[in-house]
Amino acid sequence: MRVAIIGTGYVGLTTGVCLAFTGHSVFCLDTDQSKIDALKAGKIPIYEPNLAELLAEASPNLHFTSSYAEAIPGAEVVFIAVGTPPTPSGAPNLEYLSQAARSIGQCVDSEFTVVVNKSTVPIGSGNWVGSLLRDAYEQRQRPAKAEFAVASNPEFLREGTALHDSLYPDRIVIGADEPRALEVLYSLYRPILDQTFPAPTYLPRPESVGAVPLLSTDLASAELIKYAANAFLALKISFINEIGLLAERVGANISEVARGIGLDSRIGPRFLSAGIGWGGSCFGKDTAALVATAGEYGLHMPIVESARKVNSRQRDRVVEKLLQELKILKGRTIGLLGLAFKPNTDDLREAPAIEIAQKLIDRGVRVKAHDPIAMERFGREHGQMGVQICSSACEVAEGCDALVLVTEWNEYRDLEWDAVARKMRSPFILDGRHALDREKLMRAGLRYATVN
Ligand code: UGA
Repeated sequence: MRVAIIGTGYVGLTTGVCLAFTGHSVFCLDTDQSKIDALKAGKIPIYEPNLAELLAEASPNLHFTSSYAEAIPGAEVVFIAVGTPPTPSGAPNLEYLSQAARSIGQCVDSEFTVVVNKSTVPIGSGNWVGSLLRDAYEQRQRPAKAEFAVASNPEFLREGTALHDSLYPDRIVIGADEPRALEVLYSLYRPILDQTFPAPTYLPRPESVGAVPLLSTDLASAELIKYAANAFLALKISFINEIGLLAERVGANISEVARGIGLDSRIGPRFLSAGIGWGGSCFGKDTAALVATAGEYGLHMPIVESARKVNSRQRDRVVEKLLQELKILKGRTIGLLGLAFKPNTDDLREAPAIEIAQKLIDRGVRVKAHDPIAMERFGREHGQMGVQICSSACEVAEGCDALVLVTEWNEYRDLEWDAVARKMRSPFILDGRHALDREKLMRAGLRYATVN
């Protein structure tokens, strides 16, 4: 099938590459010409494991352009995967979405085109995008005889495992009020639903993956599923962090408690890792948007609001723990291991490291940091903060009064801890992710604590 994808961020690019890989002809469009030039030259603007390899394999089916007139005519499916960044009120900024809808309406010309919202959009956006499309289409001088319908196809991929999540999803959700739109998207996703594509060697198909369930709903339900899924995952994390605080007071081990809870199949073991809490571009933004949407209907969401409060408290816990250990923070040197909001990405949006670094700097601390992938980006986007960037974890440790593990990159699990301890002024490590081996660190002479 012929597909156009508007926006080459995480969602757009991953979707485009995966659909091209499964045999469709895909036009990826971005209005940022420099991104398109880079992609045409085979350069990937984001860090995502295996994306470069899959893009190279799919390249005969992939086209990059900044022109709607090139991407849209003839497309059977057009995905809108543009950014919807948060505004100060918590409601997402829909400017890019509306621009995309209008531009599609100006160029659409197929017998039947399904325009799919893949960006995380507020409930009701499907109807709104439909009306923008129709207006733009009807205002054309000589409109072609095109027909189109809007669908919602929320994305559930995680950064860092984006390709795995797209090729082997737990489910595909399609919200459409018109049965024809559902049929088109069913055909589009068939290779993934039936798992008939040959798995790439570097992304083997997990044994547990069988046919992928397709959930077909109305537009509003699909839109709400996306927000509800992210809010539920976010509150699972905040729940374990709330229990973690009590666990610390009563002398219980939160990792054991999480394991004990998660073995109940009704609860499940994932997203129960306690620590400094969630970051990234999704949980914060989507929980804020959910609360804002509820507000528009005169509703409160006390559970989601509390999850947000608990998450922000976890960042304060880092400072409290360091104060407990060091007594005075002013004039200290503290090293952060990890800057990205989670491992295997260079994304720094709402990264806990930035908030923690700022809190420490405000208290007169000299902050040093390292990250295996995100350092360059940090320098570009947050250079003014005055954090000293180091080329290795050992260099961070040099002269530090404390280290904080902020992002659980694998390479931090097996550091030469003896050498790290020797370089520090005071060998104390605060494990913000319950990721390190306490015994090993203590044997190396480090004092060890966690952010419960
Ligand atoms: C999240 C969802 O997991 C995806 O399903 C969704 O598609 C995506 O948002 C989105 O809406 O686009 P992502 O933000 O990429 O994906 O990353 P996650 O793996 O969910 O991690 C989010 C944050 O939670 C990270 O900072 C991570 O360190 C933290 N986390 C995760 C915990 O603190 N504890 C856990 O047990 C799990």
